Amino acid sequence: MCGIVGYIGDKDAYPILIEGLIALEYRGYDSAGIALVNESALTVFKDKGKVDHLRTQMETQTKLGTLGISHTRWATHGAPSYKNAHPHTNGNDSLAVVHNGIIENFEILREKLKKEGITFKSETDSEVIAHLVGKYLTNGNLGAAVRRALQDIEGTFGIGVISRDNPDVLIGARRGSPLVVGIGEKEFFLASDASAIVRHTKKVIYLNDNNLIELARGGYRTTTLDNRKISHKIHNLEFDADSLAKGGYDHFMLKEIMEQTNTIKNAMRGRVLCDEGTARLDGLNLVLQELRQINRIIFVACGTSWHAALVGEYMLEELAGISVEVEYASEFRYRNPIIDPHTLVFVISQSGETADTLAAMREAQRKGATVLGICNVVGSSIARDTHGGVYLHAGPEIGVASTKAFTSQLTVISLLTLLLGRMRRLSHDDGVTIAGALEAVPRQVAKIFKQNDEIKTIAHIYAPHNNFLYLGRSYNFPVALEGALKLKEISYIHAEGYPAAEMKHGPIALIDKDMPSVVIALRDSVYDKVISNIQEVRARGGKIIAIATEKDKEIQKHAHHVIYVPKTIPMLSPLLSVIPLQLLAYHIAAIRGCEIDQPRNLAKSVTVE
Ligand code: G6P
Repeated sequence: MCGIVGYIGDKDAYPILIEGLIALEYRGYDSAGIALVNESALTVFKDKGKVDHLRTQMETQTKLGTLGISHTRWATHGAPSYKNAHPHTNGNDSLAVVHNGIIENFEILREKLKKEGITFKSETDSEVIAHLVGKYLTNGNLGAAVRRALQDIEGTFGIGVISRDNPDVLIGARRGSPLVVGIGEKEFFLASDASAIVRHTKKVIYLNDNNLIELARGGYRTTTLDNRKISHKIHNLEFDADSLAKGGYDHFMLKEIMEQTNTIKNAMRGRVLCDEGTARLDGLNLVLQELRQINRIIFVACGTSWHAALVGEYMLEELAGISVEVEYASEFRYRNPIIDPHTLVFVISQSGETADTLAAMREAQRKGATVLGICNVVGSSIARDTHGGVYLHAGPEIGVASTKAFTSQLTVISLLTLLLGRMRRLSHDDGVTIAGALEAVPRQVAKIFKQNDEIKTIAHIYAPHNNFLYLGRSYNFPVALEGALKLKEISYIHAEGYPAAEMKHGPIALIDKDMPSVVIALRDSVYDKVISNIQEVRARGGKIIAIATEKDKEIQKHAHHVIYVPKTIPMLSPLLSVIPLQLLAYHIAAIRGCEIDQPRNLAKSVTVE
């Protein structure tokens, strides 16, 4: 969380920085700030709240300079306030720092610096970096001072540093928080993520942990934090600025929901081998032999990606006969997980930067596991540091509530099931059936979109309620969790997802006329059981919104409202049943006037543990 953008070149830095911050607002929006160096003066501008507040303040400023750093904050240490907004400066305000991450030993450092006579201006952990760099900046070499300061620091950081006395250099360094460097004509950019700079250049280098970069006006130099010179490959960004626009939709979330007909197609493009009834995943080629020998998979993920992993557990156990465990990344690393040579670890992450998932990945690697990734963001830390993996190719996901990444993750896990299943017990015929059903999914998703108006009408009826229950069984239990998560994330309505039958062991006590239940009741092997669960809810006065299989007239007798999805095979049903739940959450939040793309307290990429 927190986004940073830096610029050095021959243009005005301000418009580049503010535009970059807007692209990074998904990483946090508690406060925003900019520091600029102009004719040997350092000026800092900041404001509480969103980047727009800062922009308004900046409207009257002129002569802003060609070197600058900026920040959009998701608060960790210290309330979201003006004084805690970045950039932070040293004692005589001669240098400024922006920081993404957490300084774990900041209290010790702060006390030490206070004893040395330094007065702190904020409650943040980040401010210690500014004072340390100031303290070590004795011979005018800013890069060396930053390198020295970072030796004192424990924790994670992605930082940008500028100084009034070094008007021709911008320093970036990282450990645990992402940093990408854009290479332009006579100019360089520094950012937490490439979406902030893609308008200006497509040539980037991704810094690795413990790397420091000195960007000067004529070139750049990268070293390790212990000052060994290193070189980086220059990558070409594969997306363009258009994919970062709302494209006529009111919100990114709605745009991303509607994109799913294409994003699901993109996730399977060139990967489904219909005639052979299997899949090819080139990113796994290096471990193909291992894939034949494993008998256990551990999925590690957070949030929506964790829900996709849960669906994967059902798929792989049923069709590939591989035992699967699904772990919250934040818990996995604090246990002592058993990883034998026949266990494969998959980390699933849209951003590829979630701190808990990264830490779990490292823990698994320490234990000798082969770790593979399922990521969306190309060049992200997880994508680069795993033994192999599969990209989602869903394009940038900007809305904080994940939608298209979820269905792309499900698509990729279906392909993985097909691949691993066909290496084991899945017959050619069954493989062909799954491949054919998968190819039909994008068309079926488009069909669900035709009910958008009906879903909106249902949203109007239920938007005033403050508690919801989401129920599903088997493959659709994780979808119930995901539906509830979508609603609470963006509408602030309390929503619980539950296995439909388990509802009897607790949540049933909550049911009354004011707590509607959204029930996924598809025509599959658990249909009759789910109908019984619906009856149990109705007997307590609860209202039912059912997600049902098209042409199922019977369900209308049991539910107050029905949203239909086309029929598919059970393992793929979550790809369809989740779509109405995304739309329902979206419309309810819109009706309640919520900030859909940037819900309070949340961030898209959680880069702190
Ligand atoms: C945050 C986001 C969620 C996301 C989760 C995991 O909580 O708000 O939408 O599912 O992080 O993110 P990842 O990028 O690892 O999939």
